Amino acid sequence: QAALPKGYTIRPLASDDYERGFLDVLSVLTVIGNISKAQFLVLIKLFFFTLERFFYLKAHNHEYFTLVIVSSEDRIVGAGTIFIERKFIRNTGLVGHIEDIAVDKNQQGKKLGLRIIQALKYVGAKTGCYKVILDCSEKNVPFYEKCGFQRKEVEMAWYC
Ligand code: ACO
Repeated sequence: QAALPKGYTIRPLASDDYERGFLDVLSVLTVIGNISKAQFLVLIKLFFFTLERFFYLKAHNHEYFTLVIVSSEDRIVGAGTIFIERKFIRNTGLVGHIEDIAVDKNQQGKKLGLRIIQALKYVGAKTGCYKVILDCSEKNVPFYEKCGFQRKEVEMAWYC
């Protein structure tokens, strides 16, 4: 397991992370748009992570968990989400989908991305997923291979 650099912490996304630059970090992924604090607070109810929800998830249907990494300056420098999907197949098995992994441009290369993925894989394994999957660009394949993933199948997309 990789250790975080000194002074950094990893924890679930919190309702005051709007002010800590959570959305700024996501801008390394794509266009974010103008998301108000009110909109953020509505979404965070969906993404909020507590121990109770963790155990609820073990017995129930799909859930989202977002984790963030906070720097020693109390800024969000990394983020990632796991979405747990309940299947009909595999004895109504669970599949974890890793989404929206983002590390601030100035903080990349410090193993923060690896640490986020390790934490999300742990959540997936502990909630009983039989696999954890994700889609990524060709250029990110080496990163995910370092995180223990292997190439499988092909992503298809349909834009509404
Ligand atoms: N090519 C080759 N190796 C890479 C790459 C790359 N593009 N990125 C990281 N690695 C390697 C690192 O060198 C390191 O290897 P090492 O252990 O041998 O030293 C290992 O992967 C871990 O790297 P980290 O330091 O943890 O990576 P970082 O913190 O920079 O995060 C990330 C990687 C998340 C891809 C970051 O660069 C980023 O935010 N990029 C822009 C947004 C993005 O593309 N996000 C992923 C979208 S896909 C999805 O969300 C499912």
